[in-house]
Amino acid sequence: MRGRATSLRRRLTWTLIGGAAVLAVLFYLVVRTYAQQIAQQGQDRILEASLTSLMDAAVVREGQVEVDVPYAAFAMLDTAADDRVFYAIHQGAELLTGYDGLVEGPFAAMAGPAFDTVGFAGTDLRLARLTRVLPASPAPVMLTVSVAQTRDSLAGTLWAISVNAALFGGAFFVLAAGMALWTSRSTMRPLSQMAEAVARRGPRDLRPVVRAVPTELSPLVTSLNSLMTRLSASLTQSETFIAEAAHRVRTPLATVRTHAEATLMRVDRDENRAALRSMIRAIDESSRAAGQLLDHAMVSFRGDQMERSAVDLVGICRELVDRLTPVAEMKDLELVLQADGPVVVQADPILIQNAVRNLIDNALKYSPPEGAVRIEVQSDPPRIMVTDEGAGFPTEQMAELSERFRRGANVGETVGSGLGLTIASDVAEAHGGRLALLNVEGSGACATLYL
Ligand SMILES: Nc1ncnc2c1ncn2[C@@H]1O[C@H](COP(=O)(O)OP(=O)(O)OP(=O)(O)O)[C@@H](O)[C@H]1O
Ligand SMILES: [Mg+2]
Repeated sequence: MRGRATSLRRRLTWTLIGGAAVLAVLFYLVVRTYAQQIAQQGQDRILEASLTSLMDAAVVREGQVEVDVPYAAFAMLDTAADDRVFYAIHQGAELLTGYDGLVEGPFAAMAGPAFDTVGFAGTDLRLARLTRVLPASPAPVMLTVSVAQTRDSLAGTLWAISVNAALFGGAFFVLAAGMALWTSRSTMRPLSQMAEAVARRGPRDLRPVVRAVPTELSPLVTSLNSLMTRLSASLTQSETFIAEAAHRVRTPLATVRTHAEATLMRVDRDENRAALRSMIRAIDESSRAAGQLLDHAMVSFRGDQMERSAVDLVGICRELVDRLTPVAEMKDLELVLQADGPVVVQADPILIQNAVRNLIDNALKYSPPEGAVRIEVQSDPPRIMVTDEGAGFPTEQMAELSERFRRGANVGETVGSGLGLTIASDVAEAHGGRLALLNVEGSGACATLYL
C-alpha cells in the first residue's frame, strides 16, 4: 500500500463530532442573542411608558415648566432585582429636577424616544430620552425627559437563559457525539466483517465471496470475485498444463528406458556400459520427476475442490501396505501396520492415499535394508505416523524439507525429485491439518500426517 493510511471510520467519526460541536455552539449563540434582544425590548417598553407618563405630567405656566412627578411613573419600573432608577427633566439646557449629569445637552426636538446604554454612577444604565417642544406663550418651550434604569434584573434573566442554553447545547453535543461513534462503527462493520471473512480463508480458498454486503460495497465485492475467478482459472490452467506436460514426457521416457536397457544387455565395453547406466539413471530421475509433478498437480487440483467422504484411514493404509510389500521385500524391509480399529474421517481418499504412499516411499528409500517400517494409525486426533529405522531426517534441514524440489543432504544416489513431502504436507493442509517431521531417539525418521 502506498501513501499514508487513512481511517474511514475515524474520519467519519470526527466529521460527525465536529459537526455536532459547531451546531451546539451555534445553538448557544443564537439563543443567547435572541434572548438578549427580547429582554432589552421588554425593558425599553417600560422605560418608554414611564417617560410618557412623566412627559404628560408636565404643564407650562407663564413660560416655566412645572412637573408634579407621578408615583406611578417609577412604580412601573419595579423589578425583582431592585434595579435603581434615575431621571432628569430639562427645560432647554437647564436641569429642572432629577440627577445632574445623567444626560448632557444641547437637545433638539425628537419624533419619538431614543434608547441608549450609558455608564453613570459607576454602573451600566439603560437610558430613554425624549425631547418635545410644548406650545406656550410668549414662546414655545423645549422639554427633555430622561429615565434610566440599572440592568441587574436583565443580566440575571440573561444569565439564567445562557446557563440553560449552554446545558442544552452540551447535552446535545454529548448525545450527538455518542450517536456519531455508534453510526461510524455500524457503518464500517460490514467492511471489517468482509475483510475478516476473506482473511480467515485458507491460502488456496478462491471461492467467490457470497455474503450480503451494503450496495456501496458491492462493486468492491464484484471486482474481488472476478479477480478470484480469474486467479483460480489461471491456477487450474497452469496445473492442468503441468499435468499434461508431465504425462506427455513420461510415455516417451519409458520407451527410451526400455531401449537403453536392451542395449545394456548387448554391449560389453565397460565405458559404454557405464554411460548407459548413467543414462538409465537420468531417465529414472526425469520419469520420477514427471510422475511426482503429475501427482502434485493432481493434489493441488483436488485440494481446491475437495470432495470429502467418510473414509477409513486404516483401510487405506492396509491397502498401501499390501501394494508396497513386494517393493519393501526387495530391500528386505518389513511393513508393519499398527491400528486398534477403524479410524473414520471425512476426507478425500485419493489424496490421503497419495500422501501416505509418499511417506512410505521415503521410509523405504532412506532407511537401511533388513529393518522394519511402522505405519501407525491413531484416532485422537486422527493421524497416520510412518516411522523407519534409518538415520532420520538431516537435522539442520528439517524445517525446509517440505518445500518444493527440496532434497536432503542424505540422499546420496537415491533417485528422487524433492516433491514427496510437499505433496504430503499439501494434502494435510487441504484437510485442515499439517505434516510433522520428527527424529525418534533409538529409531529413525517419523513423519506424522495430522488430518
Ligand atoms: N524417512 C526419511 N529418512 C531420512 N530422510 C528423509 C526421509 N524422508 C524424507 N527424507 C529427506 O527429505 C527430503 C525430501 O523428501 P521428499 O520425499 O520431499 O523428496 P525425495 O524423496 O527426495 O523425492 P521424491 O519427490 O521422489 O519423493 C529427501 O530428499 C530426504 O533428504
Ligand atoms: Mg520422497
